[in-house]
Formats: sequence, C-alpha cells, structure tokens
Amino acid sequence: MRHLLTGFEFSQDEYLAVLEEAAAMKKDPAAFADTLKGRAAAIMFEKPSLRTRTTFEIALFRLGAHGVYLDLQGGDLGKRESIGDYARNLSRWTDCLVGRVFSQHTLEELAATGSVPVINALSDLYHPAQAIADYMTIKEHLGTLEGTSLAYVGDGNNVANSLLVAGAALGVNVSCFCPLGHGPDIQIFNKAAEIAKKHGCKLEVVADPSKIQGFDALYTDTWVSMGDNTPLDQVKKIFMPYQINDTLVAQSGAKCVLHCLPAHRGYEITDEVMDGPLSVVFDEAENRLHIHMALLAMLIEK
Ligand code: CP
Ligand code: NVA
Repeated sequence: MRHLLTGFEFSQDEYLAVLEEAAAMKKDPAAFADTLKGRAAAIMFEKPSLRTRTTFEIALFRLGAHGVYLDLQGGDLGKRESIGDYARNLSRWTDCLVGRVFSQHTLEELAATGSVPVINALSDLYHPAQAIADYMTIKEHLGTLEGTSLAYVGDGNNVANSLLVAGAALGVNVSCFCPLGHGPDIQIFNKAAEIAKKHGCKLEVVADPSKIQGFDALYTDTWVSMGDNTPLDQVKKIFMPYQINDTLVAQSGAKCVLHCLPAHRGYEITDEVMDGPLSVVFDEAENRLHIHMALLAMLIEK
C-alpha cells in the first residue's frame, strides 16, 4: 500500500508516470470512467478549500468512485474519538483517505492506524498534490521540465516545501526567494537537495529579490497561510519587495507565472500579473482535477 504524505515517497519515474497519466485523463476523461468503479474515498478537511475539495470530489466521480466529504473544520478530528479509531472505521468503508489537516502528524497517524492509502491534501508542511499539478502546468507551457528553472517568491511555506520536493525529483532547478527567517523548512530543503543532486538540478534559498533573473517560471503564494492568524497587513512591509508585479516579471524573464490560489490580489501578486498574458493560474487550478484523478487511480489498490 502506498501513501502520498510528503512527496518523498515517489521516485522520478513515479512522478513522470502520474504526469503522463494525468495528461491522458485530461485528454479523454471518459476513457477512465470505470477505473475505480464502485470505490469510495473519505475527504476530510480541517481547513477551508475551494479547489482541492472540488477537484478531489469530481476526480472520484470521473473515475466511477464516490467521495464522502467530512467537514472537520470544527476541530473534531481526534476529539469525539481517537484519530486511530477514526481511521480504522473509515478504512472499513472506504478505499482512500484524503486529508487536509493542521498538523502533518495527523496524516501520519491516519496512515499508521488505517488500512487504506492516505493522500495529503495540504498540511502545515506539505501540499504535494498541488506541486504535482503545478509541474504539469509548467510542462504544458514550457514543453519540458528537466533543466528548467522555477523561482518561488514569498513565504517559504507548505507549497514552497512541496515544490522543492517534487522539483528535485523532476530535475527542475528551484530557487526560493524569501525574506530572512521565512525560508522553507530546512530539513525538507536538505533532504530535497540530496535528491536534486541525483537528478542534475539545484535547489537554493535566496533572500535578495534583485537576484530574480533568468528564470523560466515564477510562482507565489499567500504571505500568511491558513492556521496563522497574523493579519496580512502586519507582514506587508517585509514581503512587499517580493510581490510579483509587472516589474518583477520583466526582471525575471519568466515565460509563465503560477499561484496555487487563493490569491490576495495587491499583496503577493498584482491584478496586472494575475490577469496578464503570462498568468497560467487557472490552467494550474484546472490541472488539480487531472492530477487528483491520476493519483487516486495510482494509489487505490484495484
Ligand atoms: N490551492 C488550493 O489548495 O486551493 P484550496 O485551498 O481552495 O483547496
Ligand atoms: N500556503 C497556503 C496554501 C493554500 C492553498 C496555506 O497553507 O494556507
């Protein structure tokens, strides 16, 4: 049984297989209508979602399976009964647990106690399914991934961590431009950097935004992630030099601009860039669906 908890579980070949399968599913979804016929997954969310929830539900439907949404935003997971008992119950009825959680430990506990695959739909540390959809989008727009360069600009959060992990496996050079003290998780970075070496690419963390030059793709995300109650305006001063605006896009030389969404227009990205010719943010949102189909088909045992 395989899980997708961090993104470190997949080899380069497996990442490439998911990308290839997702592209086939995008082209001809009807051909996959019976892939998971009669199967079911629980979709458990401790935090809000538009894209991830919708696309997992539709992905299951398109594969012939059913998704049961469990709203855990009241903080119920582990309260009414233990996380282990939750996983043991759900494993009797479903074939997969898709979880968006505050703590990565919750996903690990679900995986350790349940008997079906667990897919990380965002945690404090990772957003692996997002990163795979992002690389699918970059591949569509640049034609290739290996040897390309991505500049992630802003807060070194869960999305940045996952772009490093998946990028390293796919041979992408990933540079994170983050204010000092806001870089990606150092342990995740170091582990991903070892993988990058094997695939002939480089990862780096840089504080100086004037060095954002000569990149193929630009990426940003919110400066304050879910679960952190810091008002955006409080961090605006340190993050503003990292805003993706027309000047930064021109300086970077990038051919496409990504954002996992939801966007805070006027903060990490301007309207001009979001709605401009290089923005691929809605392709990226669409690709969440195709990647989720491919991941569910790969991880749910037939
Ligand atoms: N990008 C992303 O995960 O969006 P949602 O929070 O709306 O699911
Ligand atoms: N870093 C963001 C991603 C949202 C999809 C968060 O965790 O809130």
